[in-house]
Amino acid sequence: MLTVKPLTLIASLLLPTTARTTNTPVQTFANCQRKTPNPLSGCPPGTLYVSQVDTNATFRTIQSAISSIPNNTTPYTILIAPGTYIEQLNVTRGGPLTLLGASNLPWQNKSYADIDYDTPHENDVQVYWNSANNDAVFTDNVYTGVLTIGPTLNATLTGSGPTGFPVPDDTPFGCTDFRAYNIDFRNEEFPYSNGPAHALGVSRANAGFYSCGFYSWQDTIYIGKLGNAYLYDTVVAGETDFLYGFGTFWISKSTLSLRACGGGITAWKGTNTTFANKYGVYISSSRVLVANSSIAPALVDKCSLGRPWNALHRSVFMDTYFDSSILPAGYTAWGGAVNGNIGVNTTMAVWDVYGPGYDGVAERKSNVTMIFDDEEIEPYVRPVDVFMTPAGEQPDVAWIDPATLGSGER
Ligand SMILES: *[C@@H]1O[C@H](CO)[C@@H](O)[C@H](O)[C@H]1NC(C)=O
Ligand SMILES: *[C@@H]1O[C@H](CO)[C@@H](O)[C@H](O)[C@H]1NC(C)=O
Ligand SMILES: *[C@@H]1O[C@H](CO)[C@@H](O)[C@H](O)[C@H]1NC(C)=O
Ligand SMILES: *[C@@H]1O[C@H](CO)[C@@H](O)[C@H](O)[C@H]1NC(C)=O
Ligand SMILES: *[C@@H]1O[C@H](CO)[C@@H](O)[C@H](O)[C@H]1NC(C)=O
Ligand SMILES: *[C@@H]1O[C@H](CO)[C@@H](O)[C@H](O)[C@H]1NC(C)=O
Ligand SMILES: *[C@@H]1O[C@H](CO)[C@@H](O)[C@H](O)[C@H]1NC(C)=O
Ligand SMILES: *[C@@H]1O[C@H](CO)[C@@H](O)[C@H](O)[C@H]1NC(C)=O
Ligand SMILES: *[C@@H]1O[C@H](CO)[C@@H](O)[C@H](O)[C@H]1NC(C)=O
Repeated sequence: MLTVKPLTLIASLLLPTTARTTNTPVQTFANCQRKTPNPLSGCPPGTLYVSQVDTNATFRTIQSAISSIPNNTTPYTILIAPGTYIEQLNVTRGGPLTLLGASNLPWQNKSYADIDYDTPHENDVQVYWNSANNDAVFTDNVYTGVLTIGPTLNATLTGSGPTGFPVPDDTPFGCTDFRAYNIDFRNEEFPYSNGPAHALGVSRANAGFYSCGFYSWQDTIYIGKLGNAYLYDTVVAGETDFLYGFGTFWISKSTLSLRACGGGITAWKGTNTTFANKYGVYISSSRVLVANSSIAPALVDKCSLGRPWNALHRSVFMDTYFDSSILPAGYTAWGGAVNGNIGVNTTMAVWDVYGPGYDGVAERKSNVTMIFDDEEIEPYVRPVDVFMTPAGEQPDVAWIDPATLGSGER
């Protein structure tokens, strides 16, 4: 009897996942991204080109290309040649900007995020900035970020307390339509949680990421106030509270990769507004997997789906595969906070999730995790249902690559 359980366990860990989704990439810029003798063939007219080695390239660094662009409403595209770029990127402009990582994957119709345990996955364009806010070496987490999108530095600050940094109301909106395709953003300062370490921050801006990767350990992605962010066919790796913020975040056909577990996967703060908002983080048609099979046995039943950073936290996992690392009770309260930060409007929910890490009985018993029925999920079931303008108007999805909103997307 004693040997049966470990053997069963190990067998199930080594089996491929049985996730329902098969990802395909977006092919919107496949011809431009494709690696060809003339790198700019198939690109939109006026595309800027960044390469560390190609003498024909105008820019050697990505930030120098971004900084060359005027702050107007003209759309710009930047093609980035394969390479490892060590730089911190800031996007403050209001007009549309698309960053394309050179890659044959879209042209080959190959997904980036459709991975199983131990599947190698790396885009040809890597952007690194290793920095963590351990022992409060910085006054704000934003200083650690690999990529930060927002109109001003103050608009991107995380701040502290239940309502965070008080961004003045007259702050302009930042990028109305930022997109990135096939780029990895990595903050690998410590190979464990040792303070917030952003791979991405988006505040007062709209940003979509397609077949990208975000790798850090703690607070990997911050979606700040009035931030709208969308991930498709993307991998996000982390250990502690690695999806956090105030804004609206939709993750579709992607993989959340657990490098260990601490805090929860989601840590959200809601905001009281004069209109009924949908701020929160929504994970749809995706999978939650441990980073590799070596760490899988140690993480069985350990990882919390999330915890409320304030009592207005909203997060929903829908149509998503949970591997055996997920805590049977699902979500957890915020340890040490009054009532665990759980109030009448705290929404920590699942709908139509499945896999060995889903335990409906334990989730119900927790009194913390809500199991939505088809009626309860209705207000949140598609990106168009949740994204809104700063004034609370809908729809607000024109900044999302429409190829991802068609068939297959709810
Ligand atoms: C630079 O561009 C010229 C003209 O398009 C082309 O002939 C040449 O091969 C290019 N060089 C490189 C290194 O790509
Ligand atoms: C960009 O232009 C907008 C509109 O004029 C303005 O509100 C904003 O402050 C400018 N941003 C930067 C970074 O200069
Ligand atoms: C891409 O692959 C998917 C899944 O295999 C397939 O359904 C789709 O038709 C392919 N698209 C193209 C343009 O080849
Ligand atoms: C980018 O913004 C960060 C703060 O978020 C700042 O520390 C850094 O100097 C900025 N880098 C550039 C190139 O503007
Ligand atoms: C940013 O916020 C700080 C603290 O509120 C304030 O002192 C500073 O003037 C602001 N900076 C700008 C450029 O508005
Ligand atoms: C497995 O993942 C953990 C966390 O990312 C990492 O520290 C470890 O090196 C990985 N092991 C292997 C064999 O890849
Ligand atoms: C939101 O409003 C409720 C009711 O007035 C209040 O109890 C709560 O503290 C507010 N939360 C935040 C984060 O402002
Ligand atoms: C809960 O949400 C409702 C509707 O938005 C709001 O009227 C109420 O003040 C909120 N209560 C708390 C304690 O946040
Ligand atoms: C959940 O609520 C029930 C009924 O109020 C209570 O008996 C039970 O102890 C609670 N469970 C937890 C884990 O708090």
